[in-house]
Amino acid sequence: MKTQELINLGSRFLKNKSILSNRIDSEILLSYLLGISREKILINDFDIKPEKINQFKSLIERRSKNEPIAYIIKNKEFRSINFFVDKNSLIPRPETELLIDPIVSLFKRKRLFFLDVGIGTGCIIFSILNELKNSQGIGIDRCKKTILNAKKNLVNLKFQNRARLFHKSISDLYKYKFDLIVTNPPYVIKREIKRLSGDITKYEPRSALDGGNDGLDVIRKVIYKSKHILKTNGILALEIGNGQYKSVLRVLKNNKFKLKTTLTDYQNNIRCIFSTLL
Ligand SMILES: C[S@@+](CC[C@H](N)C(=O)[O-])C[C@H]1O[C@@H](n2cnc3c(N)ncnc32)[C@H](O)[C@@H]1O
Repeated sequence: MKTQELINLGSRFLKNKSILSNRIDSEILLSYLLGISREKILINDFDIKPEKINQFKSLIERRSKNEPIAYIIKNKEFRSINFFVDKNSLIPRPETELLIDPIVSLFKRKRLFFLDVGIGTGCIIFSILNELKNSQGIGIDRCKKTILNAKKNLVNLKFQNRARLFHKSISDLYKYKFDLIVTNPPYVIKREIKRLSGDITKYEPRSALDGGNDGLDVIRKVIYKSKHILKTNGILALEIGNGQYKSVLRVLKNNKFKLKTTLTDYQNNIRCIFSTLL
């Protein structure tokens, strides 16, 4: 069988299972399996060996059950960096990329020492390290398997000299003072998790989503702790969920933070809040 025929076969199977991204998913899976770029596959019609056809079918089968492509191919690109990812870490989201530009422009000329709370794959901490060459960071996550994944990215991206990763909750951090604390915490309201799409609820770690009864459990912990571990004039950069802006602003004000700026996402929702201590 030739590549184009196989891509069509995979795409048709996924379409019948109501996977909207069927064509591109079929192409990505074949490219991953053959270790050849999608572009090359699309312009050349290669012959595929029977054993590869069977392997391709089992990848398509996994995708047809809503398993996210990133978990199948164990990779997700974020700010042009490839991150190893599997079911123990949240898949990096495009909205989270929004946090990085303002951080880069605020700390461009400084020797930044920062903390990333709940690092997941490490997409935030490693993007900052990549774009601010004078920076050093500490990353924590309360999930042990997530930290082990992030350590793979630490080594792959060669940031061992500029980053330290710890299996810790924000509540257990006392030792350092930071110029910047950044976090994309779990912020989904517990009872709303079941309404998220099947690829999220069935496959992504619940501990990366569940923000408790009002979605703000971890955000509150980060704000309380930041009061003590942020340097004077330091920045607290938070990613938040839809409709959480007013409540988060209230928690910030009650904890002696003042608003610096907000960022909206591609749907025009306030997605990030930057604040400083009064
Ligand atoms: C929404 S995910 C974000 C992952 C990554 N930063 C990203 O943007 O893709 C939230 C992460 O916070 C971690 N986490 C949850 N509660 C935490 C806590 N109290 N202290 C540290 N990490 C926590 C979860 O294990 C999860 O990896």
